[in-house]
Amino acid sequence: MGRIAWVTGAGSGIGEAVALGLAEDGYELVLTGRRREALAAVAHRIKEAGGRAHVKPADLTRAAAVQKIVDWIGSTLGRLDLLVNNAGLNIEDRAWAKLSPEGIDAVIDANLKAAFYCARAVLPLMRAQGGGLLIHTASMAGRFVSPLSGPAYTAAKHGVVAMSHSINMEECGNGIRSTVMCPGEVNTPILDKRPNKLSAEERAAMAQPEDCARLVRFIAAQPPHICINEVLITPTRNRSYLAALARKL
Ligand SMILES: NC(=O)c1ccc[n+]([C@@H]2O[C@H](COP(=O)([O-])OP(=O)(O)OC[C@H]3O[C@@H](n4cnc5c(N)ncnc54)[C@H](OP(=O)(O)O)[C@@H]3O)[C@@H](O)[C@H]2O)c1
Repeated sequence: MGRIAWVTGAGSGIGEAVALGLAEDGYELVLTGRRREALAAVAHRIKEAGGRAHVKPADLTRAAAVQKIVDWIGSTLGRLDLLVNNAGLNIEDRAWAKLSPEGIDAVIDANLKAAFYCARAVLPLMRAQGGGLLIHTASMAGRFVSPLSGPAYTAAKHGVVAMSHSINMEECGNGIRSTVMCPGEVNTPILDKRPNKLSAEERAAMAQPEDCARLVRFIAAQPPHICINEVLITPTRNRSYLAALARKL
């Protein structure tokens, strides 16, 4: 039987690279994000390469929309082997001095609530089939507090890390495994929201979406008796370390 993967945030950046990589590994893909055209472009590339992909656009901050997709997966595809719980965003006005209630809602909803909705919705399907794997994209900001990503994003991603570990604690007896991936800087469209704009050279030295995809594929390739609980992945030329060295801290 073919393996099924649902990738959220699949229309760009890390999610796009993950979807293309998992298709190469033989997964049938369900692709979600808000922009249908971006998902359709990824699905087209997968199909051109001989793979299978389904475009399921949704705003994942809506629990009912999340449930609708999972219901469709259950009734139409019959199983779900892998959720890559990857959708997220950040805002430009992220520092406390600029943070608005709307900004807090946008960041917490898309990075934390949506991740919870997706995990909660797939668990019954995975329990019923006797196992499954969830891989969540948190961030280095989910492990360490720094001003770079802003307080709402940092708090939300810390929540995603805690959420992932809690899934293993409750669901390991059901054959369910949860991995939280914490990337440092990855060259994707989310960086366009940085208050300080980045040069092409800076972006080229970062981790690339394909680097995260290679890691996701490695995690997904582990045998069912192995759980990779948490992984940090960062560029060798780590700008925050280099900045600290330059300040001689
Ligand atoms: N790039 C980095 O440096 C970095 C570092 C650490 C962690 N991350 C995390 O990596 C994940 C992927 O981000 P990325 O870097 O690849 O940036 P990206 O290209 O902006 O990807 C984020 C994706 O999430 C989707 N999305 C956002 N809000 C959504 C919502 N409410 N419902 C459904 N989909 C939604 C977006 O699609 P639509 O706009 O079409 O909805 C987009 O495709 C995010 O969780 C991000 O926080 C990124």
